Amino acid sequence: MCGIVGYIGGGNVYDVLIKGLHRLEYRGYDSAGIALVNPSGTLNVYKAMGKVSNLENFCKDKNLDALAGIAHTRWATHGEPSDCNAHPHYSEDGNLALVHNGTIENYKLLKDALTQHGCRFHSETDTEVLVQLIEYIKVKNNCSLLDAVREALKQVVGAYAIAVVEKDHPNRIIAARKSSPLVIGIGDDEMFLASDATPFVEYTKECVYLKDEEVAIIERGEPLKLVTLENKEAKIDVTTLELSISQLEKGGYPHFMLKEIFEQTTTLKDCIRGRVVNGGKRIIISGVDDNKEKFLAAKRIVIVACGTSWHAALLGKYLIQDMCRIPVEVEYASEFRYSNPVLDDKDIVMAISQSGETADTLAAIKIAKRMGAFVYGISNVVGSSIPRETDSGTYIHVGPEIGVASTKAFTGQVMVLTMLAAAIAQLRGTMTQEQITEIGKAIQKVPSLVEKVLRLNEKIERLSLIYTYAHNFLYLGRGYSYPVALEGALKLKEISYIHAEGYPAAEMKHGPIALIDEEMPSVIIAPNDHLYEKIVNNVQQVKARSGSIIAIVTEGDTTIRNIADHVLEVPEVPEALSPIVTSIPLQLLSYYIAINKGKNVDMPRNLAKSVTVE
Ligand code: M6R
Repeated sequence: MCGIVGYIGGGNVYDVLIKGLHRLEYRGYDSAGIALVNPSGTLNVYKAMGKVSNLENFCKDKNLDALAGIAHTRWATHGEPSDCNAHPHYSEDGNLALVHNGTIENYKLLKDALTQHGCRFHSETDTEVLVQLIEYIKVKNNCSLLDAVREALKQVVGAYAIAVVEKDHPNRIIAARKSSPLVIGIGDDEMFLASDATPFVEYTKECVYLKDEEVAIIERGEPLKLVTLENKEAKIDVTTLELSISQLEKGGYPHFMLKEIFEQTTTLKDCIRGRVVNGGKRIIISGVDDNKEKFLAAKRIVIVACGTSWHAALLGKYLIQDMCRIPVEVEYASEFRYSNPVLDDKDIVMAISQSGETADTLAAIKIAKRMGAFVYGISNVVGSSIPRETDSGTYIHVGPEIGVASTKAFTGQVMVLTMLAAAIAQLRGTMTQEQITEIGKAIQKVPSLVEKVLRLNEKIERLSLIYTYAHNFLYLGRGYSYPVALEGALKLKEISYIHAEGYPAAEMKHGPIALIDEEMPSVIIAPNDHLYEKIVNNVQQVKARSGSIIAIVTEGDTTIRNIADHVLEVPEVPEALSPIVTSIPLQLLSYYIAINKGKNVDMPRNLAKSVTVE
């Protein structure tokens, strides 16, 4: 949550920071702020409630002259969204300004101690405590900002990515991280820092991902320097970004979400590329062959994830159990981490996360590692924390996902899990060569079938008009379609603010069927799989109670067509791949319903793209 950006160099500091904030706005948009260190030794801090554009308006008549600066877009944790709680926060003497992403867990304790020393606080945030603590140490010890930051961070319990500027040193930014992401871009006589690389990709492709408890000294005219909290010099690993600016723009679409839905033909191609080889006979996913002994000895797989990634994880369970005959448990990372889990070195823990930064998933990984399990990560963002914390893993390669509602990452995760299950099955001999080749060939066809699914766009747009004003929705599915139902309901909830519940279709008769009437539409995912006859019964049960039905069916279906109010036909695929083709119409349906209601689909209220706090 929250986006941080910083810049030092010969460019226009304000412009670089504002542009960077726009790129990071997906991380939070409750308020935004900027601190500019002026050549004449003044430190100007400007803040505004709401989106970055409000900050831009506010800054129009202000002094924007600067040698360096830091900026922040906030997703509120401590203290409501307000000008006062917005970052950057000042130190008491106005010498320092600081931006922060993360949570300082012991902030109350620190605040009480600082209050006793005479510090006054102006906001309700944990961040202000940090800047006051740094100033207190700096004055008390008469030390440099770097030393004060290191000492302060040693006293902090929690997660942080911070950047600090100082009035008297306009050519320097001090930054540090622990459990919240921070990356430094190294340009030609200029340096950037940000929560991810998107704010500086157009200026430089060279970057350094900060590691936990590293402090960066970013100084104009000097090479980047990293030290530990103990002031030991840390190694600088420069990475070259594989990110292009066009991936960060809407490319003619009105919203990132729609662009990302339509990109799925390409993203799935990218996801499959080089992984299904020899005409489908062999499926290669990184980390499997290199860790043969782990996958051969595995007695159990536990998958941890949150939100949409958790829905993909649930599909991972069905895929791995079906193809590899290994028992799989799926846990919400936030529950797993506090559940006193029982794990040992015969367990594989898989962590799925688009951002690679979700705090609960990261915490779950750390516990699993401590308990001796082999930890395998599936992420999208290259260089993010989860791939760095895991023993091994792979990327979904779908490119940056900017829309807060996850779409292309979900289908990428499901595709990777399908290939991963097939690769493990090949290794363990739980599928015949014929079965592997069949699934391999089917995987290769998916991108072109997705193109066909996307032709439903206009039909779904028209359909959405009928259902825009429903107050509740049920999403029903069985087997592989049950996680799709959960994901469809989540998509609708998060962007249109309509209450929607995903349910296993057959469980409905144990309670939720009581909700069915003319006012409660059901979206039923009913492809032609081994449970088809069963779900036909469920469709009839809903119709018998006057429920309105939108059904996602396989092309050529006649049975459900005669019962449902509306059908959306998707191409025939093997059961294991059906979630990819059935989930896309649900993404489009939620998109259009939200648009009809006038909602901001890319930045839904109260949400942020990556949840880096508990
Ligand atoms: O980055 P992650 O995959 O770890 O994120 C997990 C969830 O926060 C995320 O999927 C969230 O549920 C999305 N808003 C869903 O669209």
